[in-house]
Amino acid sequence: MTTEATYDAIGRSYVRYRQPDPRIACQIEAALGNAQLVVNVGAGTGSYEANDRRVVAVEPSPIMLAQRSSGAAPAVRGVAGALPFADGSFDAAMAILTVHHWPDAAAGLAELRRVADGIVVFTFDAAIHAQYWLFEEYLPETVTLDTWRTPPIEAVAEAVDADRVEVVPIPADCVDGFNWAYWRRPESYLDPGVRSCISGLAQLPDDLVASRMQRLAADLADGTWQTRHAELARLDAVDGGFRLVVRSGRQ
Ligand SMILES: C[S@@+](CC[C@H](N)C(=O)[O-])C[C@H]1O[C@@H](n2cnc3c(N)ncnc32)[C@H](O)[C@@H]1O
Repeated sequence: MTTEATYDAIGRSYVRYRQPDPRIACQIEAALGNAQLVVNVGAGTGSYEANDRRVVAVEPSPIMLAQRSSGAAPAVRGVAGALPFADGSFDAAMAILTVHHWPDAAAGLAELRRVADGIVVFTFDAAIHAQYWLFEEYLPETVTLDTWRTPPIEAVAEAVDADRVEVVPIPADCVDGFNWAYWRRPESYLDPGVRSCISGLAQLPDDLVASRMQRLAADLADGTWQTRHAELARLDAVDGGFRLVVRSGRQ
């Protein structure tokens, strides 16, 4: 399966579990600044696309495109590595939680720079990202998936000539159901629907994940998890390695 086809297989329930988180949306909005014309690459179902800007979406998966609402920005089927636009067509390009799926991230990032002056890339630092109780204690196989070959933050920043990198804290009640979203709600991972919208879990063998989730359920039932992670109950947000790589561009 090509990386572009991954979401044809795993994205069928995406809109149910993957709605934009308002706090993360605010941070992305601020990073986009005054940009009026924006291309959203790896746009999926349209999360984080602002209503008050002119947005064009690029997305390879027909399954994801089909879940865009009727009022969503116009979308073209395409991939980051070959954007169907002339140089400098946009004020800004955004790429949200998608770079780790691109077969050639450097080529895709170069394309963002070619078509836009401002850049906002929401990605993750794989080393910090891997230090998560779900991966370390239950599903270490996740970090061996191809998608973990995401480029280091420094390489992303260099590729897009960024002027800053921001930490994106993940709130305890994060609305967007990506892998770290439920760090303080462990029982959520027992829901197969939740897991189906987290690519790092959905791409693992079903029987492997099911057996590890049985262990998580047992650890929750007898209090083992709560004892091991008592410190999380006191936190409202954590750093899961998520970063916003920003090039301000012309404002
Ligand atoms: C986790 S989803 C993120 C979607 C959306 N940006 C969001 O925040 O909800 C990753 C998206 O990247 C897309 N994708 C995969 N390979 C791609 C490529 N080579 N170029 C552009 N997008 C790609 C997938 O089809 C999927 O829609």
